[in-house]
Amino acid sequence: MIGTGYVGLVSGVCFADLGNDVVCVDKDISKIKLLEKGKVPIYEPGLSELVIKNYKNKRLTFSSNLKKSIKESDIIFICVGTPTKKGGSSADLTQIYNVAKEISISINKFKIIVTKSTVPVATGDEIEKILLKKNSKKKFSVVSNPEFLREGEALRDFIYPDRIVVGSNDKRSNRILKSLYNPLISKGASYIHTTRRSAELIKYASNSFLATKITFINEIANLCEKTGVNIEDISIGIGLDKRIGSRFLRAGPAYGGSCFPKDTKAIVSTADKFKTNLSVIKSVIKSNENRSNLLLNRVYEILNKKIKKKIITFLGVTFKANTDDMRDSSSMKMIPALSKKGAIIKYFDPTGSKKEFEKIKNVSYENSIKKSIMGADLVIIHTEWNDFKSINFKNLNKGKKFIIYDMRNIYTPSKIKIQGFKYFSIGR
Ligand code: UGA
Repeated sequence: MIGTGYVGLVSGVCFADLGNDVVCVDKDISKIKLLEKGKVPIYEPGLSELVIKNYKNKRLTFSSNLKKSIKESDIIFICVGTPTKKGGSSADLTQIYNVAKEISISINKFKIIVTKSTVPVATGDEIEKILLKKNSKKKFSVVSNPEFLREGEALRDFIYPDRIVVGSNDKRSNRILKSLYNPLISKGASYIHTTRRSAELIKYASNSFLATKITFINEIANLCEKTGVNIEDISIGIGLDKRIGSRFLRAGPAYGGSCFPKDTKAIVSTADKFKTNLSVIKSVIKSNENRSNLLLNRVYEILNKKIKKKIITFLGVTFKANTDDMRDSSSMKMIPALSKKGAIIKYFDPTGSKKEFEKIKNVSYENSIKKSIMGADLVIIHTEWNDFKSINFKNLNKGKKFIIYDMRNIYTPSKIKIQGFKYFSIGR
């Protein structure tokens, strides 16, 4: 596994747990040293235990020696980052191509080279070209095997995937990959084999579709707020239609994370290259980018446009629960904007304080829910951590009554109102 980020580390550990010998490679030596001590650099429930177990039984090793690791491996997974290009919207494939060059000079026997990183359609063709410069066609096969795991649910998603997608243009690599995944297939996972380009595009189409679903329900929630309708009824009412499906219909703040914002932009940019207008995805991107402003305006309204010196508490700042990831979290737009308007922001997150807010005026981290809401005028439930699902606001805060803005619809409005709190939520 080349790259020990979310995808590389989780997949590597899970493949080891399924009985394979796995080496996870990263050029960051300090990261490798930490992993060898059983210290996992990312927050992911259950991951550290599985790393320790498989490292101890020697099925999982770590290395920063890429050449040696490539030589010893039969299947090489490329799991490096494909971030948005600086100042642009397409995927930056520098790391992918650098790894391909490294692989090309270390091939000593037949290798299957699998891209697990999310890469634009036809990237596999480019990797193949790089490898062909130093190797004959018989020495390797380039395969696309996109990963669909979610942060915070990564182990479960890997072990019980809805589907496994393998895109290869030859039968041999498909056969080998299918046998690698056999333990998951025999437990019920669907396995589909496609061309390499199809597999690459399936990943972007999946993420874009999910982003569209969320954006759709968020916009319907806006309409619910104006018409006195409860968005939860709508999500249930439309979700029970099997053609629509009930998942990913939770209205909330703008979607964030390391994937949806990046991948929606990248697919539009790829489509532009192929002279295709993805107008639906373009609107999704725009609507999501506007969403934080829309919710901020709601905050201003809730506080009667008097923001200066108001104490605003954020419960949770990560882009979703069960992760410490701040990438493209909507809190990163909302907190600085409120601070600029003169608010005093306190926040609590189960994964601790965030460097992203260190330099922002009047923003402080509190190490408990209780401390964070002390003296608050407005409490914003920003992330749906379990820790926030049964707070007894009345007991916790004996003093002044604050307003609650529940951006994840965790609470039942009538129950909170009975306790004497002014309560606002999304789309109801
Ligand atoms: C997403 C996909 O769900 C994974 O299948 C994919 O493998 C991954 O991207 C990736 O490409 O690596 P992830 O970014 O970890 O996974 O998180 P999600 O659970 O999909 O949530 C993304 C955002 O959508 C979050 O901000 C979340 O709060 C929001 N969301 C999700 C909603 O607002 N409503 C929902 O109903 C679901």
